[in-house]
Amino acid sequence: MQDIIILEEVYKIYTMGEVEVAALNGVSLTIRKGEFVAIMGASGSGKSTLMNILGCLDSPTKGRYCLEGLEVSRFSKNELAEIRNKKLGFVFQSFNLLSRTTVVENIELPLIYSKRISKREVDNIYQIMQTLGLGGFQTHYPNQLSGGQQQRVAIARAIINNPALLLADEPTGNLDSATSADVMNVLCDLNHKIGITIVLVTHETDIARYARRVIVLKDGKVLSDTPSTIPLSQISCETTP
Ligand SMILES: Nc1ncnc2c1ncn2[C@@H]1O[C@H](COP(=O)(O)OP(=O)(O)O)[C@@H](O)[C@H]1O
Ligand SMILES: [Mg+2]
Repeated sequence: MQDIIILEEVYKIYTMGEVEVAALNGVSLTIRKGEFVAIMGASGSGKSTLMNILGCLDSPTKGRYCLEGLEVSRFSKNELAEIRNKKLGFVFQSFNLLSRTTVVENIELPLIYSKRISKREVDNIYQIMQTLGLGGFQTHYPNQLSGGQQQRVAIARAIINNPALLLADEPTGNLDSATSADVMNVLCDLNHKIGITIVLVTHETDIARYARRVIVLKDGKVLSDTPSTIPLSQISCETTP
């Protein structure tokens, strides 16, 4: 398997007046193509800072970040924006759908940004909607959908550009536990069947167990990095025969 993410001694230092806060304090890790990784840790441990760097929304103060062989830690803001559009998909706790825009228009948004809307792309939207159980909801508006359905739309939007990496920051934070399980099964399936690489932040062990590997942060450092202890067969995510 190919390395998709390589972090070498990454630091993110925030200066607040006289005080320096090391939100990331020398993080080194490698994530391979096709992995499903959960990032855990107490509030303030650096999870969001790490996700912002992985998602090319921010650059490290010090250290190296290579994404699919590109040393993105040296990239300018404009270059990072291009990488985000080409290589990354994002799913957030609060869905972030456009409310006056239909389901299908929300999903095709990244294609419009990257000027890639062709017949083939339109077919792909319908394919993805079917896969995510959203068939028949094309012309609905987000407020006509349940929370779980809205998050499925957000996931569809995140994968429409065929990203190298899907980043999800507390994607089940606004959902009840049954709907959370449902959304996690969707992510699990995308990882398992299509092989999408996923990095997910959660503070819930029940959610982290869907991942194959769990990285725990503490004070901006990696405290532990272990394979998930739950066998895939015990998770309701369907396994291929
Ligand atoms: N923009 C910022 N300016 C100053 N300090 C920040 C900023 N963002 C995060 N921090 C600090 O960095 C540390 C890690 O924050 P964060 O990555 O948000 O943690 P988590 O997501 O695990 O709760 C915290 O101490 C936080 O206060
Ligand atoms: Mg956070």
